Amino acid sequence: MTDLGGKTVLITGATSGIGLKASIALARMGARVVMVGRDSSKTAQKVAEVRAQSGSAIVDSLLCDVASQAQVHALADSFRATYDRLDVLVNNAGTVFARRTLTEDHLEATFAVNYLSVFLLTNLLLDRLIGSAPARVVNVASNGHYGGTMDFNDLGFERGYQIMRAYSRSKLAEVLFTRELARRLEGTGVTVNCVHPGAVATSIWDRAPVYARPIFALAKRIAMISPEAGAATIVYLASSPEVVGKTGLYFEKNHPKAPSRLALDDALATRLWDESAKLVELAPRPA
Ligand SMILES: NC(=O)c1ccc[n+]([C@@H]2O[C@H](COP(=O)([O-])OP(=O)(O)OC[C@H]3O[C@@H](n4cnc5c(N)ncnc54)[C@H](OP(=O)(O)O)[C@@H]3O)[C@@H](O)[C@H]2O)c1
Repeated sequence: MTDLGGKTVLITGATSGIGLKASIALARMGARVVMVGRDSSKTAQKVAEVRAQSGSAIVDSLLCDVASQAQVHALADSFRATYDRLDVLVNNAGTVFARRTLTEDHLEATFAVNYLSVFLLTNLLLDRLIGSAPARVVNVASNGHYGGTMDFNDLGFERGYQIMRAYSRSKLAEVLFTRELARRLEGTGVTVNCVHPGAVATSIWDRAPVYARPIFALAKRIAMISPEAGAATIVYLASSPEVVGKTGLYFEKNHPKAPSRLALDDALATRLWDESAKLVELAPRPA
């Protein structure tokens, strides 16, 4: 087992499914794990569970509903006020919305939660990552990105919202962001990779449209892998010496694989960065 003693890991979506199991595995490796949750009592309960199952006492938590840009800023501020290092950032929080939903920032919620929060939080913590180099960013994307499209005239699906179209776009954005950020961080010692965890039996499927739930319930029982198995490639990217220096890649089952043709479009990645910076009102950084 890799020793992560002295390393600090910040992981979002740590209160359920894949993120919870990754938190346990990373705590067992000796990392100080900072679990991000959005509900205080659930988060406290899950911190206790991670401590008990890992045998580690250095498990902390911070609260943030990542749908809110104000809360993402507050999360970054709280992290910076408390921790000097950030060795691994795992952007794992993710969800689906059966019906088109808007956030308090007036953005389509799937895009805001699954992607824009990742863009904003990572950018707000970049100096901590660079200051802790060699450091790693692990973005939990999905094979769903293969079906994703990007339309800068209607990013939030004002026309033609459909749960999987929105999910796939948010995950395509995560893969494009991974590649663009990796390019921008060349030479800093910070690597950025993304991962498809597999088809994993977690509560994300419970938010599918009502008509599809029986199919997902059956698939969870007979076809999907466990959350522990789903966490494996995240833990690998967060900790393995095999990925030292590897950056800008899309991984499945501990191996890089080719993402979609759109995900490899560098001009699209740069345009997405610029549009995202406007949507989160991020001050420009050198490209
Ligand atoms: N399951 C799969 O087959 C699969 C496949 C490919 C990719 N993924 C990706 O894997 C990641 C983890 O998903 P999962 O399957 O483990 O699902 P899950 O069990 O539903 O866990 C999702 C986590 O994200 C958190 N979250 C959701 N919305 C949030 C918000 N607005 N603010 C803060 N936290 C929020 C949830 O918090 P609460 O505990 O408070 O709900 C939970 O901790 C997601 O990015 C997902 O897209 C999953």
